[in-house]
Amino acid sequence: MNNSTVTLDKIVALCKRKGFVYQSSTIYGGLNGVYDFGHLGTLLKKNIRTAWLKSINATFDDILEFEGSLLGPHDVWQASGHVENFSDPMVDCLNCKHRFRADEMDLTKPCPNCGQTKWTEIRQFNLMFKTQIGAIANDDKSSIAYLRPETAQPIFINFKNFISTYRVKIPFGVSQMGKSFRNEITPKQFLFRTREFEQMEIEWFCKEETALQDFQTWCDSRRQFYSNLGLNMEKIRFREQDEDERAHYSKRCTDVEYEFPFGYKEIEGIAYRGNYDLTQHSKFSGKDLSVFDEETKQTYTPHVVECSVGIDRLLLTLLFDAYHEDVVEDEVRIVLKLHPQMAPIKAAFFPLVKKLNEPMLKIFKDIKRKGYEVEFDESASIGKRYRRQDEIGTPLCFTYDFDSETDNCVTVRNRDTTLQERIRIDAIEDYIKKTLNKE
Ligand code: GAP
Repeated sequence: MNNSTVTLDKIVALCKRKGFVYQSSTIYGGLNGVYDFGHLGTLLKKNIRTAWLKSINATFDDILEFEGSLLGPHDVWQASGHVENFSDPMVDCLNCKHRFRADEMDLTKPCPNCGQTKWTEIRQFNLMFKTQIGAIANDDKSSIAYLRPETAQPIFINFKNFISTYRVKIPFGVSQMGKSFRNEITPKQFLFRTREFEQMEIEWFCKEETALQDFQTWCDSRRQFYSNLGLNMEKIRFREQDEDERAHYSKRCTDVEYEFPFGYKEIEGIAYRGNYDLTQHSKFSGKDLSVFDEETKQTYTPHVVECSVGIDRLLLTLLFDAYHEDVVEDEVRIVLKLHPQMAPIKAAFFPLVKKLNEPMLKIFKDIKRKGYEVEFDESASIGKRYRRQDEIGTPLCFTYDFDSETDNCVTVRNRDTTLQERIRIDAIEDYIKKTLNKE
């Protein structure tokens, strides 16, 4: 078994073929850097969110959940520094007009699109999507809004609401999962860099004195999270960013990187943001965002440690990591060796022949009604049905045959080992549970 043969093309093809992900608006020619998620992709994302939330809450007590707005007024993004600083360097080819990120190009070399070496000056391109609020568009700043490029800012501007409504005390965290938007100059590598994506972020508000220790706790917790997802930890590395790589708000940042076929790439950023954000919003809004320390009897502006990971990028990582090709019964099979808790479909139910549909449908519906994501498949040979489920990572397949009528048993087949065993029908749910809870 190996996954050395995995390529981006294979992952894209699998996602499309099996309905994990579709390019957005394809019947109109497609929208570059924007994707839709099908049934399996949606289920996988749901499993990722559940695992993330569980992991966050296992790290510290006192973590609130939050869902902020996607649109924010100009003032918010000016205060946060995004209007001024959230940009990438851009360069155009004067000949073919193709646009590139300047930091990803060697400008002494010809344009990869047309072969000419005629570049414009490098300019800064702001990545935020700007829009106008209200029916009457004017240039007044009060009508300008931006789609959020990170989920974090709505958390910062609600800081005082959390304190006053939930009586939380420092340290505490606020977690959020939701869409972010960036007008990337060159969206690429499928879900890796898109223009619309979802982030899972935790902003941990703490005192300056404990910030670095808490930063370490979060790094350890994040490592455990990736291990629990079943990722090959030999492909994961934690890399401290150099000073010149850090975002404008960041005092320290560790990137969690995964070794893709196209190199080590960031999947998560763990940043010590100091008290930059609360200080900025306090300054620009004129509202006091400091807190009173009962012990020292002093007021201070809390510091923030942030963990930020993109769901789409993590989904892509899981697919790369799980993708395997091996040979079963002289045929190459594609198998997604996802951790059972991540697998979109937990089990599939097959009647050996259509004549046996009825009793197997009854078993299937019973398990489905208990809340498990399961599939029923009656078409093609059992071998073909196994391959279909292997390709989408289903850990277990149950087959009802003629003997089942008398022995009240089914055959269960394991995705990874391809081994089969006979178990009692009334033990199916326990068997699924046991598989899901395996380390
Ligand atoms: N609040 C901090 C922040 O947004 P970031 O490093 O810019 O930090 C965090 O983004 C994570 O969001 C990245 O590690 C990545 O997983 C995801 N992400 C960022 N830009 C993305 C894009 N264009 N497409 C997909 N995911 C993206």
